[in-house]
Parts: sequence; C-alpha cells; structure tokens
Amino acid sequence: MPMIVVVGMQWGDEGKGKMVDYLAQDVDIVARWNGGANAGHTVWVGQTKYVTHLLPSGLPQGKVCVLGGGMVIDPERLLGEIKDFDALKINTSPRQIMISELAHIVLPTHKALDVAKEAARGKNAIGTTGQGISFAYRDKEEGRGLEARQMRSPHYFGQQVHQLVELHNQELVALGSTPLDADAVANQYEEYAGYLGDHVCDTSAYLEKSLKNGKTVLAEGAQGTLLDKTYGTVPFVTRSSTTTESAPAGLGVDSEWVTRRIGIAKCFQTRVGEGPMPTEISDERLANRLRGEKDSPGAEYGATTGRTRRVGWLDLPLLRYAASINNLDELVLTKLDILSGLENIKICESYNYHSPVEKHIHLPIGAITNLYDCIPQYQDMVGWIANEIVCREDLKSLGLADSYVKKVERAAGVPVTLVSVGTDRNQVVARKK
Ligand code: GDP
Ligand code: IMO
Ligand code: MG
Repeated sequence: MPMIVVVGMQWGDEGKGKMVDYLAQDVDIVARWNGGANAGHTVWVGQTKYVTHLLPSGLPQGKVCVLGGGMVIDPERLLGEIKDFDALKINTSPRQIMISELAHIVLPTHKALDVAKEAARGKNAIGTTGQGISFAYRDKEEGRGLEARQMRSPHYFGQQVHQLVELHNQELVALGSTPLDADAVANQYEEYAGYLGDHVCDTSAYLEKSLKNGKTVLAEGAQGTLLDKTYGTVPFVTRSSTTTESAPAGLGVDSEWVTRRIGIAKCFQTRVGEGPMPTEISDERLANRLRGEKDSPGAEYGATTGRTRRVGWLDLPLLRYAASINNLDELVLTKLDILSGLENIKICESYNYHSPVEKHIHLPIGAITNLYDCIPQYQDMVGWIANEIVCREDLKSLGLADSYVKKVERAAGVPVTLVSVGTDRNQVVARKK
C-alpha cells in the first residue's frame, strides 16, 4: 500500500484530521501537500485535543510528518504548533517534521492584503480565513514568492522578506490599509528561519526513497473538493488544488505510487464563508442541533477562525460529483452519531434545475458554479434511536443506521469502508466487505 491519499468530499471540515490520525496507525509517513494555515484539523485522543493548521495529523501517532512543496507556510503559526507539541512531549525534531524546500512562505503582508481585499469586495466577499492564502499563491504564480529553502540562510532570507514586504506595502496603501514595518518583519522572519532552517530538505527525494524502500505514505489533503480552485464552487473557493490527482504533484512524487484514494464526507454538510450550499438548513433550531453545543467536542465552529459553520443535509448529487472527480476507491463517513435520535432525516437525492424543470440525479454540467439554480429534492428517512451507535461498545456494526450508510454508498458509487461515530480515535466502525 505505498501511497494512500485522503481528501475532503465537501467544503472542508469533514473530519479529515480525525480519520488521518486513525489511518496513520498503519503508515510510516504522513504528508500534507496543499493549502496553509487556512486549514484546521482536530484530533482527540482520550481527553487530549490536538488542533493543527499546518502540521500533518500524523504527529499524535508519532509518525514522520512532511510539509510538501504545494503548501504555503506561515512560519509563526508553524513554530506555535511545534511549541504546542513540544509541551506534550511529542518529538518535533527536524527528522520528525520535514519541510519541503519548495513550499512557499506566507508573510504578514499576505495576510493584511487578504483582509484588505476582502473588505474591498464588500458584499461580494468570499469569506476567506484571512490567512493570506490567495496572495501567497499569487506571488508563487508570479514568480516572486519566497521559498522555504531560502530559510537556510537566515540573513539573506531576511533581506528577501524586506524587499517583498516593501512591495506589498505599496499595494496595501493603494487599498487604503496601513503598511507594515518592513524592518521589523524582516528581523522577525530572520529569527524564524533560524529555528526552521534545519527542518527544510528535499522532501520529494525523501518520499521517493521511502516509497522505494517499502514505506507507506499517507497524503493528507486540506480543505475539500468543493473548495478546489478548479473543480469547486468558483469563485467561492480556496486557491489550491484539493483533489486526489493533485497529491503526487504537491508532494513531488510519481503518481504511480498512489494505490488508494479515500474520500471523507460528513453525514450532513457544513460550510464556512460565502457561496452556494443548496441543502442549507434555515431552521436555526435544527441547524444548532446538528452543530452541537459551542465548545463541546466536535461542535461545528471553525477550528481556524471560530466562525459558526453553516449546516445542511447531505447532498448526494454533490457527493457523487466529488467521488467521481477524485476517482475514489473508498468513502469514509463521519459524524453518523450526530444524526442519531433525529426522528426525520432528509437526504438530497436529486436537483431540479433550469426551466423547464428537469430532475437531475447527477450534477448538471456546469452547475458547480451555478448551484444557486439547483433546487434540492429530498427523500425523508426515518431516523434511528439515540445512542443506537454510541452504546455499542464493541463498535462492530451500525445497527439501523446502516440503511442510511447503504443509501449513501449506492448513490456515491463507492464502498463506504469506515464510519466515524464520535470524536475519539477509537470511535470508528469498519464495515464488512
Ligand atoms: P477537518 O478539517 O476535516 O480535519 O475537520 P475539523 O477538525 O475542522 O472538523 C471536524 C470536527 O468534527 C472536529 O471537531 C472533530 O473532532 C469532529 N469529528 C470528527 N469525526 C467525528 C465523528 O464521527 N463524530 C463527532 N461527533 N465528531 C467528529
Ligand atoms: P480544512 O482543511 C473549511 C474556506 C474559507 C473560504 C474559502 C477561501 O480545515 O477542511 P481561504 O482562506 O482559503 O482563501 O478561504 O475557503 N476554507 C475552509 N473551509 N475548512 C477549511 O480547511 C478551509 N480552508 C479554507 O472559509 O470560504
Ligand atoms: Mg477543519
């Protein structure tokens, strides 16, 4: 099983962190290939909660973690995360956490530009996380971004940071925002480089060599398919590629190594930020029931920004679309426990789209950027009793809830191999083949 790729099927926050931690038991290396600190991945092990934004979710299992060349890295946030793991006595040495030479560096001016641009968009704002993602990727595209390899010479790196901050400052002023102190940022980044430089290496060569030596790599996607810069709900998307085919490219390894493509989908849906969500629930009481009590484990409030996540019923046309874009081998469903105890569960089976109204089971061509015109058609399903799943200590079967899973599996056209029924690492039911 050389390379397993795990991706989100929806708009992020599907429980990728939890499932990557679970799957990491059987792998040697966990590697992230896209995005930056816009991600927020939560892992619970007993009473300990790990939240990461940049580090792959393999550290709680003590696995080697790689931050791939397709990522954009905020050194301040990364050092903060490393410090948190140090405090938990988890190994964070340069041999344990490796940063690709080719990953790009996020500056505070990227974040300031992100915030200023969003303000300028007014009612057309995307609802970004404010982590400077789009501007860091823009600088990469335009060939002026800074690469992690430059951190190996901290003083020279500081000078490069200074230059870029000055350039960004002109843009900030044009947008009516306050410029940042280039000297202070350069000094700060020189210091960060001193800490992180030793972690920077040719991760592509490391991964290829490991794969050739029989090691297993788990590639962890950030965000989700519907946030992909090409296949997502453009323009309400992030600026990286989030789908399975982008994993080997973002890690710099041969795509031939990929043997297992796993999609993670929540049993209902959430979205943070703006953009269409056909099955969004407008009944706030029901929405809050699915969200969970704020500050309780698993509650639907952003791990990065603390924003309240929008919630909706599971949307099968979109799930089918995501499964097909990613050429999935397996599907994993999370948060089935949250549906327990609901008398009535809705599931979107098809859309009515355009006039004259036509029923579509598959996502109509071109509709991904025009979901506002898709009217969801629901099937009502009778719920199963509360604690049906969580009371089964053996976690051997899903009882009545399995009929819901079977329906999803049929619609997605991909077997559901694992079902997550709680926040903890052990709360996973493996379905019989
Ligand atoms: P990610 O971005 O895909 O890694 O997901 P997040 O960590 O941002 O959000 C998922 C949330 O759901 C986290 O709070 C997880 O602890 C929680 N979670 C994951 N799987 C389950 C599950 O099966 N049941 C419950 N109740 N919570 C879960
Ligand atoms: P994980 O990995 C949920 C969303 C933002 C916004 C859009 C663009 O935890 O699933 P950006 O800051 O990337 O330019 O914002 O993408 N977004 C996420 N939503 N989970 C994430 O990551 C996200 N990363 C970005 O809310 O709508
Ligand atoms: Mg998240």
